[in-house]
Amino acid sequence: MNFNQRRALLGQEFVKWYQAKPTAYAQAPGRVDLMGSHTDYNLGFVLTQAIDRNIWIAARPRDDGIMRVRSLDIDGCGEFDLKQIEYNRKLPWTNYVGGVAAILKEGGYNPIGFDGLVHSTVPIGSGLSSSAALEVSSAILFDTFGKLNLDWVEMAKICKRAENDFVGMNCGILDQYTSVMGEAGCILLLDCRTITHQAIPIASGLQVMICDTRAKRELTGSEYPERRAQCEEGVRILAGFYPEIRSLRDATLEQLQSRKSDLEPVVFKRCKFIIEENQRVLDISKALAAGNHAKVGDLALESFVGARDLYEIVSSEMIAMKDAIMDSPGAFGVRGAGAGFGGCMVAFVKDDEIDNFADSVQQKYSELTGIDPDIYPVQAAPGAGLLSFSIPHS
Ligand code: GLA
Repeated sequence: MNFNQRRALLGQEFVKWYQAKPTAYAQAPGRVDLMGSHTDYNLGFVLTQAIDRNIWIAARPRDDGIMRVRSLDIDGCGEFDLKQIEYNRKLPWTNYVGGVAAILKEGGYNPIGFDGLVHSTVPIGSGLSSSAALEVSSAILFDTFGKLNLDWVEMAKICKRAENDFVGMNCGILDQYTSVMGEAGCILLLDCRTITHQAIPIASGLQVMICDTRAKRELTGSEYPERRAQCEEGVRILAGFYPEIRSLRDATLEQLQSRKSDLEPVVFKRCKFIIEENQRVLDISKALAAGNHAKVGDLALESFVGARDLYEIVSSEMIAMKDAIMDSPGAFGVRGAGAGFGGCMVAFVKDDEIDNFADSVQQKYSELTGIDPDIYPVQAAPGAGLLSFSIPHS
């Protein structure tokens, strides 16, 4: 579906559900992290890019303090009363929209309700941040309809708080920041302490490929907060010896090593991964800029191994995918994307081998697992914004 077809489809469906035309379309992209798993809530670095897969919301403001949201991808309509925003248990995905309104209100802003219809080309729940794309596209609409004049970084922070405080997932700033601040053709080196970024140039010859394992993630929901708590425990103990350590971002491997006996083995492993992964972000940024593809590949594989053995976020399908990738033409390296535990992986591939690579991975991975994967290239895309906006006469 091209741009115009997608817009026409959303427009037609919108009229069907809401009996009026939309007056605005917002878009917000998904993201892929090229390096830096779980470094964001440790206030470290992430190398990230917005991708050319996004969420669109067609919308029309309302004047009765009600917000309604539907999706072309999932049945049902979520309704929120903006005077008293309550968590929607029946349609959990709509809380990413309601949550943004709730946090805006908490911050003293006055969000205006709207009817919204969502369409996503970001695969849901597979590690490419469909939830952040939904929060951020909603924030664009609240900003537009309520004339809130939100600063971009403030918008990312509000969306993160919506996920932390309203949805109940204690993620870091990576997903929301990338979705808001993405730049076409640019890779962002994000500093999660200062919440700023620097654009990293990429030498030619290399293509970023998404390799979706399409394996069902069997998560209880406790894995992510557990990892986070283990890192915080490491910081608490290390800070007792080294007061300058306020997050794992501040710790060195030498400091960690010298206090090994003071830490639970599992906490030691988690901290080691984060400290090494943080350094890999800086190293891969240099290697990408210099076009040192062998080094890019080595760093990606080191990240994969650390994620598997130290942070323990790699599933059996991810291992099969890594084997299929490294056995395919043009592959330099591969690592898990997002939180891990299944979902998508990111491969660095020679740009003139994309088709051969995709065919080979497709075949090898399905032979290994019996699952048909999804393999595709992504381009660095611009951050969120309005697609068009016009006030109707009636
Ligand atoms: C999820 C979270 C992010 C980040 C990644 C792992 O995507 O939402 O904040 O922690 O996992 O790097």
